[in-house]
Amino acid sequence: MTPEAKSTVPDSLIAEARRVLAHAHAPYSRFPVGAALLAESGKVYAATNVENASFGLSVCAERSAVFQAVAAGERRFSALAVVTDTPEPTPPCGACRQVLREFVEDLPVALAGRPGTKVQTHRLSDLLPQAFSPPVDGRSFTA
Ligand code: THU
Repeated sequence: MTPEAKSTVPDSLIAEARRVLAHAHAPYSRFPVGAALLAESGKVYAATNVENASFGLSVCAERSAVFQAVAAGERRFSALAVVTDTPEPTPPCGACRQVLREFVEDLPVALAGRPGTKVQTHRLSDLLPQAFSPPVDGRSFTA
């Protein structure tokens, strides 16, 4: 993790991801996911996966949380929690890792399963090493 990235995820963020899990729309996979993203502003953006009868249109909880936060004007984030109703924690998919990397070089990511199971904390830089990253300082890819 970069030195400036915080290494902990507040318990309250995990609790928020667990709370929102009940709102998941996952009738096809029956795999509800809850995510809560903490912005540097202090606001929390909670989201779930939302599936569709046309399966390919389904969106993951983590990406939904990022998109909601960005649409609210946020660009900087300090922690993510992902909760599933499983005995083991569920790591975010590759697409969600890349979408997070668009806005943060690094970030602590807490993964939790059912209540009472062990929470894992990872770093985005470990989950997505050697990332394809956005151009720095607003420069274009081709400049
Ligand atoms: N899912 C997420 O919400 N996040 C992930 O990182 C992986 C998968 C959702 C997508 C789909 O609705 C269900 O889990 C099963 O793949």
